[in-house]
Amino acid sequence: MTFSITTDHETLLENDKRQLHGLHHPNSHKNPLIVERAEGVWLHGTDGRTVLDGMAGLWNVNIGYGNQELPDVARDQMQKLAYTSGFVGVTNPPSIELAAKLAGMAHPTLNTVYFSSGGSEANETAFKTVFYYWRRMGKPQKRKIISRYQAYHGITLAAASATGVEAYWKAFGLPLDGFVHIPNPNTYRYRGDVKDGETIGQAAARALEEAILREGPETVAAFIAEPVQGAGGLVVPPDDYFPLVRQICDKYDVLIIVDEVICGFGRTGTMFGLDHWDLRPDLLSFAKGITSGYLPLGGTLISDQIREVILSASPEETWMHGFTYSGHAAACAVGLANLAIIERKNLVENARQMGERLLSGLNRLRDEFPMVDNVRGNGLLCGVEIVKDRSTREADNAKAVAVSNAAMANGLRSRAVGGNTLAFSPSLAITADEVDQIIDRLGSALDAVG
Ligand SMILES: Cc1ncc(COP(=O)(O)O)c(C=O)c1O
Repeated sequence: MTFSITTDHETLLENDKRQLHGLHHPNSHKNPLIVERAEGVWLHGTDGRTVLDGMAGLWNVNIGYGNQELPDVARDQMQKLAYTSGFVGVTNPPSIELAAKLAGMAHPTLNTVYFSSGGSEANETAFKTVFYYWRRMGKPQKRKIISRYQAYHGITLAAASATGVEAYWKAFGLPLDGFVHIPNPNTYRYRGDVKDGETIGQAAARALEEAILREGPETVAAFIAEPVQGAGGLVVPPDDYFPLVRQICDKYDVLIIVDEVICGFGRTGTMFGLDHWDLRPDLLSFAKGITSGYLPLGGTLISDQIREVILSASPEETWMHGFTYSGHAAACAVGLANLAIIERKNLVENARQMGERLLSGLNRLRDEFPMVDNVRGNGLLCGVEIVKDRSTREADNAKAVAVSNAAMANGLRSRAVGGNTLAFSPSLAITADEVDQIIDRLGSALDAVG
């Protein structure tokens, strides 16, 4: 094979200036870790650094790095058929088999999928399908999407509009009209009003009902929610929240889109995040963990009721939606093999057990360092807040970034999200010893920052 890519650190550092890196000012992309190879939870840089990836990439490398089965699956599939159009009249075996595997997997009423290449596209598909559904149901005025603060649903125009973090909007004049944001059930810092005797879950559910009534139920198409909010600040909802949300949405004929892009495929210690609350979705977006990042893939599952509306359309009413790479043969083959690995290696159960270990380690750090508070998580989706003072709960964003930088200098990759939360979402295959190393390295970073 004559093809090769340089591993010379200085050359790569110079040429890296020719690409943009997402979500950061270019000036903060100093001394990047140029990852040449990785195994398990370990990243190896071209400058000789070795780092424990406490984030599994971007919450997605569920089976861990360096798996040697998936490259074989991809190669075999690419040798037969890497890609073909999935538009009318053509399809391929891996996408068919993966669709069949996903049917009923998340919920008995979700049996039909449309594939995309990532989570933003999955949510765009969900929004367009919701608009389509209500038009076909004779209610074209139902077009508003209700979302929550601290939500992250992606970066394309509609997905970023559904995202509930101002930092993602202000440079682009977003959100688009029709996206409404309400308080999320953040039990540590709830930003809505709470009535006497109400729980945060009840107050946040009431905020949804009030928003539907304020906007007019005849204009509200759907409510979108991550089971556990991730990139916006890692918020685990109280148990009473989602059952109330389902009741309210049923009452006002509002569809529910569950965004499982992070939670799906084991991350929270159950196969899907919605399993924790027995939530029935009308649509479900997924991406990330479906291939553990080995190839790009996402998708949107739709309920049988929505599927019937698409199937019963006249030619003029066709669901005119589609991506070139939908049902990509190699990506779907890798997705199938990745799900088989998650099942065979019992990684969902490992995520549950290692998540408990991680959470108790983080709680020990809370006992030791007054700046650490609000330790929370489900499975291997955990976070801690860095605060100036526990009694006032005042956030310390600068210190959170300093701790994250000190951790990186100590060989631990974490991510500051939602301002002052340090998030941890390592591979679901992480070992007990590696969990303990996360805690040790984070402890040293907290010590160093002081
Ligand atoms: C919950 C959630 N939804 C959607 C997305 C968007 O996915 P992508 O970056 O693949 O477009 C993300 C990405 O982090 C996410 O966390």
